[in-house]
Amino acid sequence: LGKKIIHKDSVSSTQVIAHQAAQENAEHGTIIIADEQTSGRGRMNREWHSANGKGIWLSMILRPAISPYLAPQLTLLTATVLADVVNSCTTLKPLIKWPNDILINNKKTAGILTEMQAEQDQIQYIVIGFGINVNQKRDELPEDLKRKATSLKIETKNNWPIKELIQEILQTFENTYDDYIAHGFPEIKSKWESYGFKTGKNITIKTLREQYEASFSGIADDGALLVKTKDNTVKKLYSGEIDWFQE
Ligand code: BTN
Repeated sequence: LGKKIIHKDSVSSTQVIAHQAAQENAEHGTIIIADEQTSGRGRMNREWHSANGKGIWLSMILRPAISPYLAPQLTLLTATVLADVVNSCTTLKPLIKWPNDILINNKKTAGILTEMQAEQDQIQYIVIGFGINVNQKRDELPEDLKRKATSLKIETKNNWPIKELIQEILQTFENTYDDYIAHGFPEIKSKWESYGFKTGKNITIKTLREQYEASFSGIADDGALLVKTKDNTVKKLYSGEIDWFQE
């Protein structure tokens, strides 16, 4: 991983560059990093603010020999890597909100976007992109995000060296990924659960079609979200959003 790192000053989105490179046969482990993204994107077609030099805006190309149905596991794997590195570097205690948000003190500091190209039950490639808010001051966050977002600087009052953080993330990712390919998902799952919500926590599930109250029941072996609804049935979810009440 990271044998080939493409570093750009400013791009529309590192996801776009990564898809282009993957289609031109870029090898497994190719990394695209930008100092600034002019149209960074998040899940659900949302915008991702990626100010120049303030955070980590990175996409990686993976070509894992796993079933496309297991791709969600890689999002959760990435979340544990980011949580581990944030914790080991800053000593902050991150919380992972399924599937892909890293929260600190209940505010989002990082997000992950996984996009896959698969044909006939075979993965051609996966692009995993993540954004981490590192050195923004509170007044540098966009107005509409101030309530919901944070950065490592806001939480620690320190500036953090972006280059060293990236190195740490890539190293940790490589070790965790190799371990996953060799031993499968169980270890990632328990690590994820150690950073996730406690089971039984009351949450609101929002999907494109509906919204309902449920309680968090952990994650499934394929990386899906498990929730228990009011009538005590357990549902398995592959997409959607969680809202929760602060307790
Ligand atoms: C989310 O939480 O909605 C996912 C955010 C993903 C943002 C990263 S930044 C690097 C890569 N390039 C993008 O345009 N998006 C991802």
